[in-house]
This record gives sequence, structure tokens and C-alpha cells, in this order.
Amino acid sequence: MTLARYQNLRHEQPEPGLHVVTIDRPRALNALDSATLAELACVVGALAADRTARALLLTGGGTKAFVAGADISEMQSLSPDQARAFSWKASRLFLDIEALPMPAIALVNGYALGGGCELALACDWIVAADNAVFGQPEVNLGIPPGFGGTQRLPRRIAPGKAMELLMTGRQVKADEAVAIGLANEKVAGDALLARGLELARTIASKGPFAVRLVKQAWHRGQALDLAQACAVESDLFGLAFSSPDQTEGMRAFLEKRPPAFEGR
Ligand code: CAA
Repeated sequence: MTLARYQNLRHEQPEPGLHVVTIDRPRALNALDSATLAELACVVGALAADRTARALLLTGGGTKAFVAGADISEMQSLSPDQARAFSWKASRLFLDIEALPMPAIALVNGYALGGGCELALACDWIVAADNAVFGQPEVNLGIPPGFGGTQRLPRRIAPGKAMELLMTGRQVKADEAVAIGLANEKVAGDALLARGLELARTIASKGPFAVRLVKQAWHRGQALDLAQACAVESDLFGLAFSSPDQTEGMRAFLEKRPPAFEGR
């Protein structure tokens, strides 16, 4: 079911609770301009408020690109103040994607460069099609990454490897992306959406409240030292015991039957 049609993206719900957002701006290989970022912000706002959403799959239209970066045509004449505002606007949006209560998986088909790689990194994990190409080529344009790449890439993969990619602009294909932990797995391009849906269904079959708490614990804990982060985990663990899902999950185990989670 198509939930909303925008100019540069599509928001579909192929199954209850499973959302697919496709950046679809083929003339610029799905590059992110202000209009596309604004449309994405609308979808993210709607998803953040949707308590029935169980997983988000984010992908690119066509087979050539996930997202080929921020839109260079739009950026080229920005003043320093405008560039800072453009960067911060996208960064806030990517922080909102990262903070979505449900898991977000990037299904990367083709190029995920610059802002495209950064968008994928704002998701919880990445599945790469066999034609995926990742990179932060901003230094080729005389700029550093501006949508969180200098921060998220060294947090996702080994910092030294991240610095190499950020400072040389070298692009990596799917196999290497998996080897360095940037992508979780590689699949055939024509199987990418099916694999994403399979993962989303698995997530949706688990206790939804518990899945949300896993995500919250990780993100809230990242800014803290280990002891404080474990205290956050303990708080959320305790919170889970106020939920019908905890009662049902444990009762179902003891009664040797599948759980029927309510999502709260
Ligand atoms: N912005 C605007 N337009 C883009 C674009 C981008 N990031 N990437 C591709 N396009 C456009 C091209 O200009 C071209 O348009 P025309 O047909 O009107 O000329 C069209 O998409 C198709 O692209 P190519 O002809 O270049 O296709 P290709 O197959 O030869 O190459 C590519 C594909 C290697 C991805 C190449 O397009 C490319 O290098 N793109 C730029 C990648 C890049 O540098 N991304 C980082 C942007 S900066 C950034 O993202 C900063 C940040 O962190 C915020």
C-alpha cells in the first residue's frame, strides 16, 4: 500500500507495520537536495509518531544508486552560513532517523556516496546489494562530510579504517563493506527488498516494546561511560517489566506456546 507520494520519494507499507521509504530522484541519482530532505523529514515525523510501525526499510529508486550524496548543484554556490545551515538541517534529520523508535535498515543498491553513505549510517544497520559502492568522496570536492560522516563512520567501523576512507575518499564495494563491518551482509540486487522484508518480519515478530528498548538503550548509552550506560540499561530493563509484552512473553514461554505481543 502506498501511504504517500512525494515528488522525490515514496512511502509504502507493504505489510502492516513494515514501512519502505524509497528516495526516488533518478535524474540526480537520488542526490539529496533541500526539497528531498524536507520530504524525508515529513515521513520521519510521521513514523516517529506511529506506534504501530515495527520497522523502516530505507532504499533508493532504480538500481544504480541508493543516494549519490548531497546535491552538488545546490551546494556549489552556498555561502558559509548557508552551508552550515544546510549541513545542520540534514544532520538534525539524520539524528531524528537515528532516534526513530523502530529499527531502520538501509537497503543499499548502487552508490551510497557522501550524504548517501551518511544516510545509510543513520540507520541501525545496512544490507548491501552486490552492486553497492560506499564512500565519503567529499574531499574530492574540497569539503569535509557534512551530514554526520566524520562522526558516525568511526563509530560504526574501526576508527583508523574510517579515517582512511574519510581522508582519501576511497570507495569500497559490497564485499569490502561487509568485511570492514560497514554492511552486515551482501545480497543479489534483485533480492534486496525481499531480504529487507524478511528481516523486518523477523523484527516485527519479536516483542515490539523490547525491540524499541534495545534501540533506546544503545543510543542513550553511547554518550555515557560504561557504568552510566549499564545503569540506563537497568532502567529500561525495569521499565520492560511494566509492559504487557513482558508478561505475555514470559507466560508464553512457560506455557510452551508462541507469544501474542501487543507492542506495549
Ligand atoms: N549531486 C547532484 N547531482 C548528481 C550527484 C550529486 N551528488 N551525483 C550524480 N549526480 C547527477 C550527475 O550530475 C548527472 O547529472 P546529468 O545527467 O544532468 O549530468 C546524473 O546524476 C548522473 O550522474 P553521472 O553522469 O555522473 O553518472 P556516472 O554513472 O557517470 O557516475 C557517480 C556516478 C560515480 C555516482 C557520479 O555521479 C558521482 O561521482 N557523483 C557524485 C558523488 C559525490 O561526490 N557525492 C558526495 C556529494 S557531497 C556530500 O554528500 C556532502 C555531504 O556530506 C553533505
